[in-house]
Amino acid sequence: MTIEQLLYETVQILENSGNNRAQQESEVILKEISGKDLSDLMAHSDEEIESEVSSSVLEIADKRAQGMPLSYALGTMDFFNWKFVTDQRALIPRPETELLTEEAIRYIRKNNLEQGKFLEIGTGSGIIAVTLKKYFPEAEVIATDISPDALELAELNASRQKADVEFIESDLVDEVPKTKFDLVIANLPYVPTSTIATVSPEIRDWEPLNALDGGISGFDIIERLLSKIGPFLNDDGIILLEVWHTHKPVIEKAVSQYFPDKEVTVLKDLTGLDRFAVIS
Ligand SMILES: C[S@@+](CC[C@H](N)C(=O)[O-])C[C@H]1O[C@@H](n2cnc3c(N)ncnc32)[C@H](O)[C@@H]1O
Repeated sequence: MTIEQLLYETVQILENSGNNRAQQESEVILKEISGKDLSDLMAHSDEEIESEVSSSVLEIADKRAQGMPLSYALGTMDFFNWKFVTDQRALIPRPETELLTEEAIRYIRKNNLEQGKFLEIGTGSGIIAVTLKKYFPEAEVIATDISPDALELAELNASRQKADVEFIESDLVDEVPKTKFDLVIANLPYVPTSTIATVSPEIRDWEPLNALDGGISGFDIIERLLSKIGPFLNDDGIILLEVWHTHKPVIEKAVSQYFPDKEVTVLKDLTGLDRFAVIS
């Protein structure tokens, strides 16, 4: 089979499943599996492609045609400069979480905390904790999750990236050693339960909903974290959170209750929605 024939067949599989991004997604699959640039592939489109590549590409297209999210079908995704394994053990990392992580990196550099102690709560696939350890190899990074499945995936990602992160199975900070951190970062479930029913089938049918469902208000788990995290934070420590876009008032109220000496700044995501809380 030539490259051109493979691309044609992949597009057909996706189009027949009702995918309206069939061409773009087929190109992504081909590029990822062959490990070659699209321009390179297109320049040689009449050449034969290795049979292992074509069978992998078609297998992924079939999974995608059944509705599996592209990142799960591919089995990996890029976060910052690194490729992370993605599967149904954890939520697919979202682009806005890169912004949250960038905010942490900026803060660490600005405050010369390259050798500091960082704690991530609800690590999922491990992307935030592993990225922080890759940027700051001399820092101590601890990450927790309540889901043993997610932790298995996070450990796999850390070992593939040779990132020495300590993972702890814990409800929030319950199992975290009593010590102080310079930075606490969390992208905990924050979608209000009533909204979960309205998310797309691609999310609802494939991703772990307990990674998204933040309880009735969507703020339940984050508020519980804020009520418990004080003893784990250095006096000038910072908390960085990803939050639901309408939660600014409840976050401000909770910060005034649990951290009367700190201030909260709410930052927007790329779509202009309030998405991150910086408590410092
Ligand atoms: C929105 S996902 C985020 C995963 C990852 N940090 C990311 O940004 O892609 C939330 C994660 O928090 C975990 N989680 C939910 N409740 C928790 C709790 N009480 N304690 C610790 N982790 C929790 C879920 O298992 C899930 O992996």
